[in-house]
Amino acid sequence: MIEKLENLLKEASSEISKADSKEKVLLLKTRYVGRKGEIASFLKDLGGLPAEERKAAGEAINRAKDAIEKEVERLLAGFDEREKALLLKTDRVDVTLPGRRVPLGKRHPVTQVMDSVEAIFSGLGFDIAEGPEVELDYYNFEALNLPKDHPARDMQDTFYINEEVLLRTHTSAVQPRVMERERPPLRVIAPGTVYRRDSDITHTPMFHQVEGFMVDKGVRFSDLKGILTQFLHELFGENTGIRFRPSFFPFTEPSAEVDIRCVICSGSGCRVCKGSGWLEILGAGMIHPEVFRTVKYDPEEYTGFAFGLGIERIAMLKFGIDDLRLFFENDIRFLRQF
Ligand code: PHE
Repeated sequence: MIEKLENLLKEASSEISKADSKEKVLLLKTRYVGRKGEIASFLKDLGGLPAEERKAAGEAINRAKDAIEKEVERLLAGFDEREKALLLKTDRVDVTLPGRRVPLGKRHPVTQVMDSVEAIFSGLGFDIAEGPEVELDYYNFEALNLPKDHPARDMQDTFYINEEVLLRTHTSAVQPRVMERERPPLRVIAPGTVYRRDSDITHTPMFHQVEGFMVDKGVRFSDLKGILTQFLHELFGENTGIRFRPSFFPFTEPSAEVDIRCVICSGSGCRVCKGSGWLEILGAGMIHPEVFRTVKYDPEEYTGFAFGLGIERIAMLKFGIDDLRLFFENDIRFLRQF
């Protein structure tokens, strides 16, 4: 048996050394040391040997196996080595090829304006609060001095879910939510999505607002004017003209609408400002005492102002876009421009 083994070993090493490819070496490996190979059959025969010869024979078989495996490994390593050397020699990186461009994404213009509004008010010491878009009638209307039969509810065509639940028509709903859980002093902005049953070139059923409010002892209308002037100057530029017009909202008294000088014609009159030279930009006012009573603030002790602005409207003016619906079509050619 030992003799047969030695012959096998000789045959194997001469065969393996002749192999001129990796595939051939691997085939030979299977033939000699594979599970059903030559060495395996020697191992099978081991059982037939007399007990005293078994140990030595077993060891010899294992030695032969090791020797063949080593030889196989050595050859395989040689092939790998040569393959790598060849690759290194022939495979070149062409450093003159232009690089692959990584397409840069951009923020949606509405998000950009939202971000700058938030940044400006954060700079003025305002905190950011959020409320639900599916809102209770109570916070959207009732707590804002708009009882169920109030005619001012007609100002906003509402998506009702049921009698008590609706899609909020304005971010003002966040005012009573924050006020009923926190005590003054408050300086808060509440950005978010709002919904109204409206659809044409200047109205979409879903749009974005930022609410702002400040409540403390001795907050006055002049504080409102100061903060809003500062804000609008930061957003539209130092020299932007601003005017306050008397207006009406059930949850503020007195109320105002704020206009800026037309950013298109600088006041001489154009299509965008309909010849008036002014653009309405937000609604505002001093928080109504009734709203304070509802959230259990004493209106004799505290005063405050509130304002609300439409983000799409500002984005239209800032970027010179004349159709609101473009913001929601998500045409990549449109969005790439900002
Ligand atoms: N909520 C009002 C609107 O959507 C805007 C507003 C907010 C007015 C706060 C006054 C105070 O039109």
